Amino acid sequence: MLNGKIFIKTFGCQMNEYDSNRIYDSVIKLGLVKTTDQTNADCYILNTCHIRDKAKEKVYHEIGRVKKLYRNKKKPIMVVAGCVAQAENEEMIRREPYIDIVLGPQSYHKVNDLLKNYFLNLKQEETEFDTIAKFGYFDQIKNNNNKISAFLTIQEGCDKFCHFCVVPYTRGPEYSRPYNKIISEAEQLIENGVKEITLLGQNVNAYSYTENSKEFRISNLINHLNQYSELKRIRYTTSHPRDMTDDLIDCYSSSKKLMPFVHLPIQSGSNKILELMNRKHTVDDYFKIYEKLKKINKDIEFSSDFIIGYPGETHKDFEDTFQLIKKIKFINSFSFIFSPRPGTNASKLKMIDKKISQERLTLIQKKLFTNQIEKNKSLENTTVDVLVENKMEKQKKFFGRNKYMSPVIFDASERDIGKIVKVKIENSNQNTLFGHLSKQMKAA
Ligand code: SAM
Ligand code: SF4
Ligand code: F3S
Repeated sequence: MLNGKIFIKTFGCQMNEYDSNRIYDSVIKLGLVKTTDQTNADCYILNTCHIRDKAKEKVYHEIGRVKKLYRNKKKPIMVVAGCVAQAENEEMIRREPYIDIVLGPQSYHKVNDLLKNYFLNLKQEETEFDTIAKFGYFDQIKNNNNKISAFLTIQEGCDKFCHFCVVPYTRGPEYSRPYNKIISEAEQLIENGVKEITLLGQNVNAYSYTENSKEFRISNLINHLNQYSELKRIRYTTSHPRDMTDDLIDCYSSSKKLMPFVHLPIQSGSNKILELMNRKHTVDDYFKIYEKLKKINKDIEFSSDFIIGYPGETHKDFEDTFQLIKKIKFINSFSFIFSPRPGTNASKLKMIDKKISQERLTLIQKKLFTNQIEKNKSLENTTVDVLVENKMEKQKKFFGRNKYMSPVIFDASERDIGKIVKVKIENSNQNTLFGHLSKQMKAA
């Protein structure tokens, strides 16, 4: 038993957030209890992201910060986990002796053993791609998440190798968890009081698990989860246009709990750039998916990821992306300048002028943000369904989300937490809607 407190600082995507929670679930056995006070932990984990920019340098910077925090205190066991740990492995310990353990995302099942071994005075590194063993281990450990909205990883890794992306190298090959294990974890979450489950995967809609010659897809999971009366909402992320099959599209008519908000990254509106990126889908493929979904429910809204300034992007290619955003009014999107990642195909290509990329990013973001502001404005003076998540810290207000994931801040009471309530929207800004419970509020 280690007995003490553990703090995890999480960067990157929702999968890292899920992983951090599962690490907390695992180390309870050692007597390590989660703390939110990062200045007073016996074990400090940085769960890192490698997707863009100077990811590696940011981690060393963070460690410098932790060193300062603990200058006059007992040093915590310092663990670097996540995608930078995978990419950099034991090199990190060589460069920064303050690090005790380097732990890749497919080795989290070893976290307890590594922490126990720490007292043997060994520096340890685990970056095997041992995905099956990892999920096998965590299947035996209860998921204690009792938030109103929880993530549930169903698929990990990626075999698509887009030329710009590190994920296939940091998360390893595509792997889909056994169907029944996902269902029992979902049941644990529902028992804990979770009302919204977001199914997660690097390519969540590539989920495919075969048992007794029957293939289970994400559509089976969605339709299965739809039957639990205590569960109110289902979401999934991140999906890939190539895996947007008709069975999943049909879920938007078969499942009332599947929210009408699709995060479907396209990256660029130019077929030439999509080909250079090795995306293996065209703008037209994307548009067909859009039309099929809109035909099922015209209220379905879209968001996307965009990479601006990819090597070879001309003004015409950029204009195509801009036109696509005009055509599909994405209500909320992520856009970044291309960042060359070590080991990827695109890292060897000639970068386009930084200033041009920055100008294009500014233009695209202006358009995307305008869409977002307009969407939120259009909801003012209407009543929207909100799943109430929590009371806000140091405020009397409550926090929840509408069906499109937009944050809503409003007046309510403790007993509304976990319910879907009707909120009259009075005001909005780019990111948030503000309002109060509607007089004719009906809890769903
Ligand atoms: N699997 C998802 C898909 O294919 O759409 C995306 C997963 S990735 C973790 C999230 C986003 O990061 C991508 O959609 C992409 O826009 C962005 N991204 C990945 N590599 C990048 C790079 N080298 N430079 C800039 N953005 C990048
Ligand atoms: Fe990265 Fe492409 Fe895989 Fe998405 S599909 S995780 S962008 S390689
Ligand atoms: Fe980052 Fe790894 Fe997620 S690189 S975006 S934490 S899969």
